[in-house]
Amino acid sequence: MAVPLLDLKAQYRTIKDEVLRVTEEIYESQIFILGKRVEEFERDFAAYCHSKHAIGVSSGTDALLIALMVADIGRDHDVIVPAYSFFATAGVVDRVGATPVFVDIDLADYCIDVRKIEQKITSRTRAIMPVHLYGQAAAMDEINRIAKKHNLLVIEDAAQAVGAEYDGKRTGSLSPFGCFSFFPSKNLGAFGDAGAVTTNDDALASKLVDYRVHGMRPKYYHHYVGGNFRIDALQAAILHIKLKHLDQWAEGRRRNAAAYIDMFAEAKAGERIVLPTEMPKRHHVYNQYVIRFPEGRETRDRVMNHLKSAGVGCEVYYPLTLPQQACFKDNLSASDSFPSSDAASEQTLAIPVYPEMTRDQMAEVVREIMRGLG
Ligand SMILES: Cc1ncc(COP(=O)(O)O)c(C=O)c1O
Repeated sequence: MAVPLLDLKAQYRTIKDEVLRVTEEIYESQIFILGKRVEEFERDFAAYCHSKHAIGVSSGTDALLIALMVADIGRDHDVIVPAYSFFATAGVVDRVGATPVFVDIDLADYCIDVRKIEQKITSRTRAIMPVHLYGQAAAMDEINRIAKKHNLLVIEDAAQAVGAEYDGKRTGSLSPFGCFSFFPSKNLGAFGDAGAVTTNDDALASKLVDYRVHGMRPKYYHHYVGGNFRIDALQAAILHIKLKHLDQWAEGRRRNAAAYIDMFAEAKAGERIVLPTEMPKRHHVYNQYVIRFPEGRETRDRVMNHLKSAGVGCEVYYPLTLPQQACFKDNLSASDSFPSSDAASEQTLAIPVYPEMTRDQMAEVVREIMRGLG
């Protein structure tokens, strides 16, 4: 039985009528960029994220970029980022002229290791950008405590973690800027590229709105150099429809994650497979369900190749750490080492967890993983 890593067609079938109705209305209106649809989505998305404001933008990457621009981070500044994330986390820091400074992750939650942040703080450091990787919030109490002590800004990369919580508070509301991606494979996915920034600060919200349209207010008067970071009405309307289902879909992911624990125990996976851990105070939304093979890369690759030949979707997120990327080789000093990030890149594998999965499909995934493990 083939099991895809993600089945967006199954999700689409449940909202198809509503989507077609709204898209038809937008075609009739011929209003494609910003406007009422975007405002409606922003209002409800802000509320969903326990935030005062949400500003829809063109992608998750642009959400991070616009936050850095609004915060005036640039040349001569360092931004602390985890050594293990999607490229955009560090790429945007470089793009504003600042330097991404890498901190190793904690293998317990795959997020930045808060015990290793302070040793990387210098007079150049302006911000910490934690990533809520795979759908679980980073250790935000500790990150905010360190940031306060050193007078640093915190910018959450919440691209993978819409709806995740830390101590009952949703991601995006845990720092001055929450940056979200609505890339189609995210838990809240658009029909193309889109993103949003959340904030509780009125002044920052107003600046974000201006930066989204080239720093312009009123029309053709530019106070800052922003960019074209606008979101399409079509994307906002589709996201607005999906938002109503988001908690139910996340519950499906959580239910599957819980079921995997029993199924791997029954299959006697033992210590050969480390399953994701939901850490204290967190509410994990499992954008990815990432398992780890402590035996190392060879075992991981063997299982991965077996799954692919058996038709079970899986993926390595990510095969290289950020410091290993060719474009960052000059950012490193001889003493830098990132053992947990290295281990994550060598030993982990994302397996299907999407809410529409059946028990039979889950059983197939576990069976094939155990077969591949040998
Ligand atoms: C952790 C992280 N940060 C940033 C991004 C960038 O988002 P987008 O692809 O919407 O630009 C992504 C999405 O792929 C991500 O996973």
